[in-house]
Amino acid sequence: MSTETLTDVAVRTEDVWKIYAQEPEDVEAVRGVSIEVREGDFMTMGGPSGSGKTTLLNMLGGLTRPTRGRIWVRDLEITTLSNKELARLPSRASASSSKPSTFCPCCPPSRTRSFHFF
Ligand SMILES: Nc1ncnc2c1ncn2[C@@H]1O[C@H](COP(=O)(O)OP(=O)(O)OP(=O)(O)O)[C@@H](O)[C@H]1O
Ligand SMILES: [Mg+2]
Repeated sequence: MSTETLTDVAVRTEDVWKIYAQEPEDVEAVRGVSIEVREGDFMTMGGPSGSGKTTLLNMLGGLTRPTRGRIWVRDLEITTLSNKELARLPSRASASSSKPSTFCPCCPPSRTRSFHFF
């Protein structure tokens, strides 16, 4: 991807996985997610409880490291940063939930979440 194309990309992920080591078996919370969200895009994420929405948001915000895969916030690849560098990141993802009737009329009748970079 060219530098010019990256400038209007707010967030991009490439084959992102999060696997929690747990007994009796590991939990694959996020399996191979590749997304690209451009500046000014409006995006919602839906799925049943436990499908990995919060885990993905936390990874986009640099709060949780993916088990594998790559994440860029704007033109910065955050998956290569040290913990110190991550803590200093100016961008942070925040998650919020609301009823679909007050947020997105096309969403299924369950809670929805939105996130913002600032
Ligand atoms: N710290 C953790 N350790 C082990 N397993 C975890 C951890 N955090 C989440 N999980 C597991 O990862 C999966 C995804 O959880 P996550 O909280 O991301 O789902 P969600 O889509 O946000 O659910 P909800 O709609 O209930 O908020 C679940 O099976 C959950 O139990
Ligand atoms: Mg959640």
